[in-house]
Amino acid sequence: MTAEFRLRRTDHPTPQQQREEILADPGFGRHFTDHMVTVTWTPDVGWHDHQVTALAPFTLHPGAAVLHYAQEILEGLKAFRRADGSIWLFRPGLNARRFVASADRLVLPELDEETFVESVAALVRADEAWVPPYGGEQSLYLRPFMFASEAFLGVRPAQQVTYCVIACPAGSYFPNGVTGVTLWISTKYSRASIGGTGAAKCGGNYAASLAPQREALGHGCEQVLYLGGEQRRDIDESGTMNVFFVTRDQQLVTPSLGTILDGVTRDSVLALAAEHGLDPVQRSIGMDEIRDGLADGTVTEAFAAGTAAVITPIIGFKSEEFAAEVGDGTPGKYTRQFRTHLLDIQYGRAEDTHGWMHRV
Ligand code: COI
Repeated sequence: MTAEFRLRRTDHPTPQQQREEILADPGFGRHFTDHMVTVTWTPDVGWHDHQVTALAPFTLHPGAAVLHYAQEILEGLKAFRRADGSIWLFRPGLNARRFVASADRLVLPELDEETFVESVAALVRADEAWVPPYGGEQSLYLRPFMFASEAFLGVRPAQQVTYCVIACPAGSYFPNGVTGVTLWISTKYSRASIGGTGAAKCGGNYAASLAPQREALGHGCEQVLYLGGEQRRDIDESGTMNVFFVTRDQQLVTPSLGTILDGVTRDSVLALAAEHGLDPVQRSIGMDEIRDGLADGTVTEAFAAGTAAVITPIIGFKSEEFAAEVGDGTPGKYTRQFRTHLLDIQYGRAEDTHGWMHRV
Protein backbone atom coordinates (compact mmCIF):
# COMPACT_ATOMS: atom_id res chain seq x y z
CA MET A 1 0.00 0.00 0.00
CA THR A 2 1.33 3.42 -0.95
CA ALA A 3 2.13 5.56 2.06
CA GLU A 4 0.52 8.98 2.49
CA PHE A 5 2.78 11.97 2.95
CA ARG A 6 1.67 14.53 5.53
CA LEU A 7 2.23 18.05 4.21
CA ARG A 8 3.22 20.85 6.58
CA ARG A 9 3.95 23.90 4.48
CA THR A 10 6.81 26.21 5.27
CA ASP A 11 6.00 29.44 7.11
CA HIS A 12 8.75 31.18 5.14
CA PRO A 13 8.38 30.43 1.43
CA THR A 14 10.91 32.10 -0.86
CA PRO A 15 9.40 35.42 -1.99
CA GLN A 16 7.95 35.21 -5.49
CA GLN A 17 10.34 37.75 -6.97
CA GLN A 18 13.39 35.93 -5.61
CA ARG A 19 12.06 32.61 -6.90
CA GLU A 20 11.49 34.09 -10.34
CA GLU A 21 15.02 35.48 -10.42
CA ILE A 22 16.35 32.02 -9.60
CA LEU A 23 14.16 30.36 -12.22
CA ALA A 24 15.46 32.81 -14.84
CA ASP A 25 18.96 31.33 -14.43
CA PRO A 26 18.90 28.29 -12.14
CA GLY A 27 22.19 26.63 -13.09
CA PHE A 28 22.43 23.14 -11.62
CA GLY A 29 22.23 22.14 -7.96
CA ARG A 30 22.74 25.64 -6.59
CA HIS A 31 19.23 26.66 -5.50
CA PHE A 32 16.83 24.52 -3.54
CA THR A 33 13.05 24.61 -3.29
CA ASP A 34 11.05 25.35 -0.14
CA HIS A 35 10.20 21.80 0.95
CA MET A 36 11.66 18.36 1.41
CA VAL A 37 10.40 14.83 1.98
CA THR A 38 11.59 12.78 4.92
CA VAL A 39 10.77 9.25 6.01
CA THR A 40 12.48 7.28 8.77
CA TRP A 41 13.18 3.57 8.98
CA THR A 42 13.90 1.44 12.00
CA PRO A 43 13.87 -2.37 12.01
CA ASP A 44 11.03 -2.59 14.55
CA VAL A 45 8.52 -0.30 12.76
CA GLY A 46 9.83 -0.23 9.21
CA TRP A 47 9.25 3.00 7.26
CA HIS A 48 7.34 5.63 9.24
CA ASP A 49 6.74 9.39 9.56
CA HIS A 50 6.19 10.13 5.87
CA GLN A 51 6.33 13.91 5.69
CA VAL A 52 6.69 16.89 3.38
CA THR A 53 8.00 19.77 5.48
CA ALA A 54 10.01 22.99 5.16
CA LEU A 55 13.48 22.43 3.73
CA ALA A 56 15.76 22.53 6.75
CA PRO A 57 19.19 21.26 7.84
CA PHE A 58 19.29 17.83 9.46
CA THR A 59 20.25 17.32 13.06
CA LEU A 60 22.75 14.52 12.70
CA HIS A 61 24.73 12.87 15.47
CA PRO A 62 28.49 13.11 14.76
CA GLY A 63 28.56 9.33 15.09
CA ALA A 64 25.97 8.82 12.32
CA ALA A 65 27.28 5.89 10.29
CA VAL A 66 26.92 7.68 6.95
CA LEU A 67 29.56 10.21 8.00
CA HIS A 68 32.08 7.44 8.59
CA TYR A 69 31.29 4.56 6.28
CA ALA A 70 29.29 6.22 3.47
CA GLN A 71 26.27 3.91 3.69
CA GLU A 72 24.25 6.10 1.33
CA ILE A 73 22.47 5.91 -2.02
CA LEU A 74 20.88 8.49 -4.31
CA GLU A 75 18.77 8.99 -7.38
CA GLY A 76 18.22 11.79 -9.88
CA LEU A 77 15.12 12.47 -11.96
CA LYS A 78 13.33 15.45 -13.42
CA ALA A 79 9.87 17.02 -13.53
CA PHE A 80 8.96 18.92 -16.70
CA ARG A 81 6.34 21.59 -17.22
CA ARG A 82 4.40 21.37 -20.47
CA ALA A 83 2.85 24.12 -22.58
CA ASP A 84 -0.54 23.51 -20.89
CA GLY A 85 1.03 23.97 -17.44
CA SER A 86 0.82 20.30 -16.45
CA ILE A 87 3.84 18.68 -14.77
CA TRP A 88 5.27 15.31 -15.69
CA LEU A 89 7.98 12.98 -14.41
CA PHE A 90 10.11 10.95 -16.81
CA ARG A 91 10.12 7.20 -16.07
CA PRO A 92 10.14 7.52 -12.25
CA GLY A 93 9.47 3.79 -11.91
CA LEU A 94 12.91 3.02 -13.35
CA ASN A 95 14.57 5.26 -10.76
CA ALA A 96 12.51 3.55 -8.07
CA ARG A 97 13.69 0.12 -9.19
CA ARG A 98 17.32 1.19 -9.41
CA PHE A 99 16.98 2.68 -5.91
CA VAL A 100 15.87 -0.74 -4.65
CA ALA A 101 18.88 -2.37 -6.34
CA SER A 102 21.28 0.24 -4.92
CA ALA A 103 19.75 -0.20 -1.45
CA ASP A 104 20.33 -3.92 -1.68
CA ARG A 105 24.01 -3.44 -2.59
CA LEU A 106 24.55 -1.03 0.34
CA VAL A 107 22.36 -3.13 2.70
CA LEU A 108 19.89 -0.31 3.19
CA PRO A 109 16.16 -1.05 3.60
CA GLU A 110 13.97 -1.38 0.52
CA LEU A 111 11.60 1.50 -0.22
CA ASP A 112 8.80 0.20 -2.45
CA GLU A 113 8.33 1.61 -5.94
CA GLU A 114 4.92 3.21 -5.25
CA THR A 115 6.16 5.03 -2.15
CA PHE A 116 9.24 6.26 -4.00
CA VAL A 117 7.16 7.65 -6.88
CA GLU A 118 4.58 9.14 -4.51
CA SER A 119 7.32 10.80 -2.41
CA VAL A 120 8.68 12.52 -5.50
CA ALA A 121 5.21 13.51 -6.71
CA ALA A 122 4.31 14.85 -3.24
CA LEU A 123 7.35 17.11 -3.25
CA VAL A 124 6.64 18.34 -6.79
CA ARG A 125 3.06 19.17 -5.77
CA ALA A 126 4.25 21.09 -2.70
CA ASP A 127 6.87 22.98 -4.73
CA GLU A 128 4.88 23.29 -7.94
CA ALA A 129 5.79 26.97 -8.28
CA TRP A 130 9.43 25.91 -8.54
CA VAL A 131 8.95 23.89 -11.73
CA PRO A 132 10.40 26.21 -14.38
CA PRO A 133 8.01 27.56 -17.01
CA TYR A 134 7.61 25.81 -20.35
CA GLY A 135 9.70 27.15 -23.19
CA GLY A 136 13.34 26.59 -22.32
CA GLU A 137 15.23 23.44 -21.44
CA GLN A 138 14.74 23.79 -17.73
CA SER A 139 13.18 21.36 -15.32
CA LEU A 140 12.91 20.58 -11.64
CA TYR A 141 15.70 18.16 -10.70
CA LEU A 142 14.69 15.79 -7.91
CA ARG A 143 17.21 14.14 -5.68
CA PRO A 144 15.90 11.22 -3.58
CA PHE A 145 18.54 9.79 -1.22
CA MET A 146 18.80 7.45 1.74
CA PHE A 147 21.46 7.27 4.40
CA ALA A 148 22.53 5.56 7.62
CA SER A 149 21.46 8.01 10.33
CA GLU A 150 22.12 5.71 13.29
CA ALA A 151 24.86 6.86 15.65
CA PHE A 152 27.05 3.76 15.75
CA LEU A 153 30.69 3.24 14.85
CA GLY A 154 30.68 -0.52 14.40
CA VAL A 155 30.76 -1.56 10.76
CA ARG A 156 27.36 -3.16 10.15
CA PRO A 157 24.12 -2.14 8.41
CA ALA A 158 22.53 0.82 10.21
CA GLN A 159 19.50 0.29 12.42
CA GLN A 160 18.17 3.74 11.69
CA VAL A 161 17.92 5.07 8.18
CA THR A 162 16.61 8.35 6.76
CA TYR A 163 15.06 8.75 3.32
CA CYS A 164 14.80 12.24 1.91
CA VAL A 165 13.89 14.00 -1.33
CA ILE A 166 15.06 17.51 -2.16
CA ALA A 167 14.65 19.46 -5.38
CA CYS A 168 16.35 22.20 -7.33
CA PRO A 169 15.37 23.99 -10.50
CA ALA A 170 17.85 23.01 -13.16
CA GLY A 171 19.25 24.39 -16.37
CA SER A 172 22.05 22.62 -18.16
CA TYR A 173 24.54 20.54 -16.18
CA PHE A 174 27.52 21.48 -18.34
CA PRO A 175 27.82 25.13 -19.32
CA ASN A 176 28.85 23.92 -22.80
CA GLY A 177 26.62 20.85 -22.76
CA VAL A 178 25.07 21.41 -26.15
CA THR A 179 28.27 22.24 -28.00
CA GLY A 180 30.03 19.22 -26.56
CA VAL A 181 32.59 17.96 -24.08
CA THR A 182 36.02 16.38 -24.36
CA LEU A 183 36.59 13.30 -22.21
CA TRP A 184 39.80 12.34 -20.49
CA ILE A 185 40.34 8.57 -20.64
CA SER A 186 42.00 7.81 -17.36
CA THR A 187 44.48 4.96 -17.32
CA LYS A 188 45.50 5.81 -13.77
CA TYR A 189 42.15 5.65 -11.99
CA SER A 190 39.23 3.27 -12.33
CA ARG A 191 35.65 3.82 -11.29
CA ALA A 192 34.47 0.28 -10.69
CA SER A 193 35.63 -3.29 -10.52
CA ILE A 194 33.87 -6.57 -11.06
CA GLY A 195 31.88 -7.27 -7.89
CA GLY A 196 32.27 -3.66 -6.70
CA THR A 197 29.68 -0.91 -6.38
CA GLY A 198 29.86 0.43 -9.94
CA ALA A 199 26.26 -0.47 -10.76
CA ALA A 200 24.91 1.05 -7.54
CA LYS A 201 24.16 4.75 -7.33
CA CYS A 202 25.98 5.43 -4.08
CA GLY A 203 27.67 8.59 -2.90
CA GLY A 204 31.01 6.82 -2.46
CA ASN A 205 31.30 6.30 -6.22
CA TYR A 206 31.08 10.05 -6.73
CA ALA A 207 33.56 10.80 -3.93
CA ALA A 208 36.03 8.48 -5.64
CA SER A 209 35.48 10.29 -8.94
CA LEU A 210 36.87 13.60 -7.68
CA ALA A 211 40.56 12.73 -8.09
CA PRO A 212 40.12 11.45 -11.68
CA GLN A 213 37.96 14.50 -12.38
CA ARG A 214 40.79 16.72 -11.14
CA GLU A 215 43.13 14.83 -13.48
CA ALA A 216 40.72 15.40 -16.40
CA LEU A 217 40.44 19.13 -15.72
CA GLY A 218 44.22 19.30 -15.55
CA HIS A 219 44.30 17.98 -19.12
CA GLY A 220 41.70 20.47 -20.32
CA CYS A 221 38.85 17.92 -20.38
CA GLU A 222 35.41 18.42 -18.83
CA GLN A 223 34.86 14.83 -17.67
CA VAL A 224 36.51 11.48 -17.24
CA LEU A 225 35.91 8.37 -19.28
CA TYR A 226 36.73 5.34 -17.17
CA LEU A 227 38.16 2.05 -18.34
CA GLY A 228 37.08 -1.32 -16.99
CA GLY A 229 37.18 -4.99 -17.86
CA GLU A 230 39.81 -7.47 -16.75
CA GLN A 231 42.64 -5.67 -18.56
CA ARG A 232 41.26 -2.21 -17.81
CA ARG A 233 41.18 -1.52 -21.53
CA ASP A 234 37.37 -1.47 -22.04
CA ILE A 235 35.18 1.61 -22.04
CA ASP A 236 33.16 1.78 -18.81
CA GLU A 237 31.20 5.01 -18.24
CA SER A 238 31.77 8.64 -17.65
CA GLY A 239 30.90 8.92 -13.95
CA THR A 240 27.87 11.15 -14.36
CA MET A 241 26.85 9.72 -17.74
CA ASN A 242 26.75 6.59 -19.90
CA VAL A 243 28.52 6.76 -23.25
CA PHE A 244 27.38 5.84 -26.77
CA PHE A 245 29.14 5.54 -30.12
CA VAL A 246 27.56 5.70 -33.57
CA THR A 247 29.33 3.69 -36.25
CA ARG A 248 29.48 4.16 -40.00
CA ASP A 249 27.41 0.99 -40.49
CA GLN A 250 24.50 2.44 -38.47
CA GLN A 251 25.09 0.80 -35.14
CA LEU A 252 24.53 2.51 -31.82
CA VAL A 253 27.05 0.88 -29.52
CA THR A 254 27.23 1.23 -25.74
CA PRO A 255 28.98 -0.81 -23.01
CA SER A 256 26.98 -3.70 -21.55
CA LEU A 257 25.61 -3.48 -18.03
CA GLY A 258 27.69 -4.97 -15.24
CA THR A 259 29.96 -2.42 -13.62
CA ILE A 260 28.26 0.66 -15.10
CA LEU A 261 25.16 2.48 -13.93
CA ASP A 262 21.94 1.25 -15.52
CA GLY A 263 21.02 4.74 -16.72
CA VAL A 264 17.42 5.74 -17.37
CA THR A 265 18.51 7.91 -20.29
CA ARG A 266 20.73 5.06 -21.52
CA ASP A 267 17.77 2.69 -21.53
CA SER A 268 15.60 5.29 -23.29
CA VAL A 269 18.16 5.98 -26.02
CA LEU A 270 18.50 2.25 -26.70
CA ALA A 271 14.70 1.98 -26.92
CA LEU A 272 14.53 4.90 -29.42
CA ALA A 273 17.46 3.75 -31.58
CA ALA A 274 15.41 1.84 -34.17
CA GLU A 275 13.16 4.88 -34.75
CA HIS A 276 16.31 6.72 -35.83
CA GLY A 277 17.46 3.93 -38.13
CA LEU A 278 20.17 2.67 -35.78
CA ASP A 279 20.77 -0.84 -34.53
CA PRO A 280 21.27 -0.78 -30.72
CA VAL A 281 24.19 -2.93 -29.56
CA GLN A 282 25.33 -3.49 -25.96
CA ARG A 283 28.76 -5.08 -25.76
CA SER A 284 32.24 -4.56 -24.43
CA ILE A 285 34.11 -1.85 -26.32
CA GLY A 286 37.88 -1.66 -26.26
CA MET A 287 39.61 1.68 -25.95
CA ASP A 288 41.84 0.66 -28.88
CA GLU A 289 38.76 0.02 -30.99
CA ILE A 290 37.57 3.58 -30.34
CA ARG A 291 40.99 5.08 -31.02
CA ASP A 292 41.23 3.18 -34.33
CA GLY A 293 37.58 3.83 -35.21
CA LEU A 294 38.02 7.56 -34.73
CA ALA A 295 41.17 7.50 -36.86
CA ASP A 296 39.66 5.56 -39.78
CA GLY A 297 36.15 7.05 -39.61
CA THR A 298 34.36 3.87 -38.47
CA VAL A 299 33.18 5.74 -35.37
CA THR A 300 31.24 8.74 -36.62
CA GLU A 301 29.68 10.14 -33.44
CA ALA A 302 29.94 9.86 -29.67
CA PHE A 303 27.66 11.19 -27.00
CA ALA A 304 26.96 10.82 -23.32
CA ALA A 305 23.56 10.28 -21.72
CA GLY A 306 22.35 10.99 -18.22
CA THR A 307 19.45 12.56 -16.37
CA ALA A 308 21.32 15.72 -15.44
CA ALA A 309 23.31 15.90 -18.67
CA VAL A 310 20.47 14.73 -21.01
CA ILE A 311 22.36 13.99 -24.24
CA THR A 312 25.76 15.66 -24.26
CA PRO A 313 27.81 15.50 -27.44
CA ILE A 314 31.34 14.17 -27.02
CA ILE A 315 33.55 16.08 -29.41
CA GLY A 316 36.91 14.67 -28.44
CA PHE A 317 38.89 12.16 -26.38
CA LYS A 318 42.29 12.52 -24.76
CA SER A 319 44.44 10.07 -22.86
CA GLU A 320 48.09 9.45 -22.07
CA GLU A 321 48.17 7.42 -25.31
CA PHE A 322 46.24 9.46 -27.86
CA ALA A 323 44.07 12.47 -28.56
CA ALA A 324 41.32 12.48 -31.16
CA GLU A 325 38.48 14.63 -32.33
CA VAL A 326 35.12 13.00 -33.02
CA GLY A 327 34.03 13.65 -36.63
CA ASP A 328 34.57 17.32 -37.36
CA GLY A 329 34.45 18.27 -33.66
CA THR A 330 30.82 19.41 -33.72
CA PRO A 331 27.73 17.49 -32.44
CA GLY A 332 26.69 14.80 -34.91
CA LYS A 333 23.33 14.27 -36.59
CA TYR A 334 22.14 11.34 -34.45
CA THR A 335 23.32 13.00 -31.26
CA ARG A 336 21.18 16.04 -32.06
CA GLN A 337 18.23 13.84 -33.07
CA PHE A 338 18.26 11.84 -29.82
CA ARG A 339 18.52 15.00 -27.76
CA THR A 340 15.59 16.64 -29.52
CA HIS A 341 13.49 13.47 -29.46
CA LEU A 342 13.96 12.91 -25.74
CA LEU A 343 13.28 16.54 -24.85
CA ASP A 344 10.20 16.53 -27.09
CA ILE A 345 8.82 13.48 -25.28
CA GLN A 346 9.62 15.03 -21.91
CA TYR A 347 7.98 18.37 -22.72
CA GLY A 348 5.01 16.75 -24.43
CA ARG A 349 5.85 17.83 -27.99
CA ALA A 350 6.36 14.29 -29.30
CA GLU A 351 4.05 11.36 -28.80
CA ASP A 352 4.95 9.27 -25.76
CA THR A 353 4.61 5.96 -27.59
CA HIS A 354 6.47 4.06 -24.84
CA GLY A 355 4.27 5.33 -21.97
CA TRP A 356 7.26 6.88 -20.20
CA MET A 357 5.69 10.05 -18.84
CA HIS A 358 3.99 10.10 -15.43
CA ARG A 359 1.66 13.00 -14.68
CA VAL A 360 2.05 14.53 -11.23
C1 COI B 1 22.08 12.39 -12.80
O1 COI B 1 22.25 12.49 -14.00
O2 COI B 1 20.97 12.49 -12.28
C2 COI B 1 23.19 12.12 -11.92
O3 COI B 1 23.00 11.49 -10.94
C3 COI B 1 24.47 12.73 -12.17
C4 COI B 1 24.73 13.64 -11.03
C5 COI B 1 25.66 13.03 -10.08
C6 COI B 1 24.93 15.03 -11.36
